[in-house]
Amino acid sequence: MAGHPDAPPGTVAHWRARLMCSFREAGLPEPERDAELLLAQALDRNPVFVLAHPEYRPDAFQNERLTAWLDRRAGGEPMQYILGWREFWRDRFAVSPAVLIPRPETELLVERGAARLAGRERPRILELAAGSGCIGLSLLREAPDARLVALDISPAAMAVAGHNARALGLAAHFLGLVADGPAPFGPQATGYFDLVVATPPTSPQAPRHQRPGETRDCDPRLALAGGADGLDCYRAWLVPALELLRPGGVMLMEFGDGQEAPLQEILSATGHPFRFHEDLSGRPRAFELERRP
Ligand SMILES: C[S@@+](CC[C@H](N)C(=O)[O-])C[C@H]1O[C@@H](n2cnc3c(N)ncnc32)[C@H](O)[C@@H]1O
Repeated sequence: MAGHPDAPPGTVAHWRARLMCSFREAGLPEPERDAELLLAQALDRNPVFVLAHPEYRPDAFQNERLTAWLDRRAGGEPMQYILGWREFWRDRFAVSPAVLIPRPETELLVERGAARLAGRERPRILELAAGSGCIGLSLLREAPDARLVALDISPAAMAVAGHNARALGLAAHFLGLVADGPAPFGPQATGYFDLVVATPPTSPQAPRHQRPGETRDCDPRLALAGGADGLDCYRAWLVPALELLRPGGVMLMEFGDGQEAPLQEILSATGHPFRFHEDLSGRPRAFELERRP
């Protein structure tokens, strides 16, 4: 087993050096961080343990895990799919290849959504294209008396969202539905929701920004396919989603690079006031539309 020449084989120090070396050779941007996180997870400890106990010897099961994870990570699989979780807002969300890995810039929707829900009693939230449920469930953490209906076209994605709702102790306020856009609601749901949030699929022609060291092919295809110009879901969902909002209710949706101008046109056509928000890198990333009273 190749590793640090001075580290006794089979120790944490040896594994750390071996992982780092493989990840560096694979061109991954953060070999040290990845190595320490994988070691910590394989040992069921925290990263401090990894640094504090270079002499520790993983057992046979842990060695097997590390061998498998080394190959997967060096092959470009995102860390989050290997670890099975991703930090988002205030929590750790389970992720699998059935869902998109939550992105830091999506926290903008939580921030704006929480601001708009402040002061409302028992607000009702609808999350479309929920994936892991990271946005809606984070909003439940900010507005604990809220109720969340989350939907996704993928049953496997909804299973992940349901798991997250239970793991975070939010299941009592969560309803997960498998559905194509805002389709499952009848007329009785007109004006029912205070907030509709979504990060709809965007097209391969207008991909969401890819991080170095993450293979976009690992994202579920449905998470990215948004039609020829990436705007299919906005066109299809905007009007029915507006119907579901109470007067004064708010719709918050994320969009991809370069989609602000065409969205401006689509949103103007609704006749309801809207504005754009920028992400931390200063790019227009989300719109906030308010249903007129
Ligand atoms: C870009 S991901 C967003 C996931 C999550 N909100 C997040 O930010 O991590 C888009 C999600 O939309 C779902 N989706 C695609 N087409 C859909 C449709 N027609 N109706 C409902 N959900 C759909 C995909 O399964 C995927 O989980």
